[in-house]
Amino acid sequence: MNHLQALGLNSTSKCGRAFNQPLADYNTSHLPNPHFPDILAKDMVRAFAPGKCILFGEHAVVYGHPAVAVAIDAGVEVELSESDSWTIEGIPFESEKHPHISHILNDVFDYGGDPLKIKIESGLFSAAGLGSSAALSNAMGAAVLRIMDSNAELDLVKLARIGHAAEAKAQSGRASPTDTATSALGGCVVVAGEQVTGTKHVFDASMVTPEGDRKWSICEVELPADLDAWLVLGFTGISSPTGEMVAGVAKLLEEDSSKDQEMDAIAMITQAGLTALGAGNLEAVGIAMNACHERLQNIGVSSPELDSLVEAVRPHSLGAKLTGAGGGGCMVALTQNPQRVAEAIEVVGGTPLISRLGADGVRILS
Ligand code: PMV
Repeated sequence: MNHLQALGLNSTSKCGRAFNQPLADYNTSHLPNPHFPDILAKDMVRAFAPGKCILFGEHAVVYGHPAVAVAIDAGVEVELSESDSWTIEGIPFESEKHPHISHILNDVFDYGGDPLKIKIESGLFSAAGLGSSAALSNAMGAAVLRIMDSNAELDLVKLARIGHAAEAKAQSGRASPTDTATSALGGCVVVAGEQVTGTKHVFDASMVTPEGDRKWSICEVELPADLDAWLVLGFTGISSPTGEMVAGVAKLLEEDSSKDQEMDAIAMITQAGLTALGAGNLEAVGIAMNACHERLQNIGVSSPELDSLVEAVRPHSLGAKLTGAGGGGCMVALTQNPQRVAEAIEVVGGTPLISRLGADGVRILS
């Protein structure tokens, strides 16, 4: 085989392009790709990872109690194409501006291939408690893994660990594995200091943080397949400052020890909500969500905007509460009437997002 044949070109005069013959006159139908011989084609990979919503246990999880999160339909899509230069969204890629991405490329995979054209599309409100940075890390991890090895199987636990490390790197060494594990595994995930009864253990995570060593047990709960309810998230339009809210709660607990009972109450509500969820008892899940919101108000993490959205959806919901750190960000309602709830959110100035409970985890799209 000569070098033309190796490129997918036929060297006979019948099919070969004569010197200076216009490309438009040249019959390319015998080529696998009419524009370019396959051997010169650059690789392209698209990966998607979902966002998450905490149903129970935010803030209490910081003190070792369990948190329950579900993957949602919306998420982040990453497209990587081999290129001649490094770009992100059409502009030159500067690694220090994108710590999650550069950590995955350099520290995790030691990527040494062609420069990449990176495109990112997010269906999540950012800085709103929906785990957009975790979804980005997971989708990026999956896409890099696949562009480096087209036969590589996606190991969801490995991706969750990679995403968790990327989050920690970007957040001064502090990150709980809740967002990355939920986005990687999909479904319903329980994160706690130790395995919670009634859940299936998936993996353990640990991290050396500025405050000392931390350990988590990451477990799954199988949701009944026929759950007849939807989640509707309502974004206040205000970003949710997780670090500040966590610090505020720590100060409150230090100043007023009676607030410890709110944490214990959240832990009990979480257990009740989890049991109800596993049994498909939607009314009981809703009651637990309402009770959880009240306890979160008592520790000062709700806001007038969150309370207004929660009040607005209550007549059409089984239950509603703030989700994530609070102070802004999102609330979530469990409902059998998602359109009515979405309308109610819009009427009081919020932005709705409808999702199933427990979407699939990170995946390769093409
Ligand atoms: O708003 P988010 O998704 O960052 O959730 C924060 C959840 C907290 O319990 C408040 C903090 C944490 O690290 O778990």
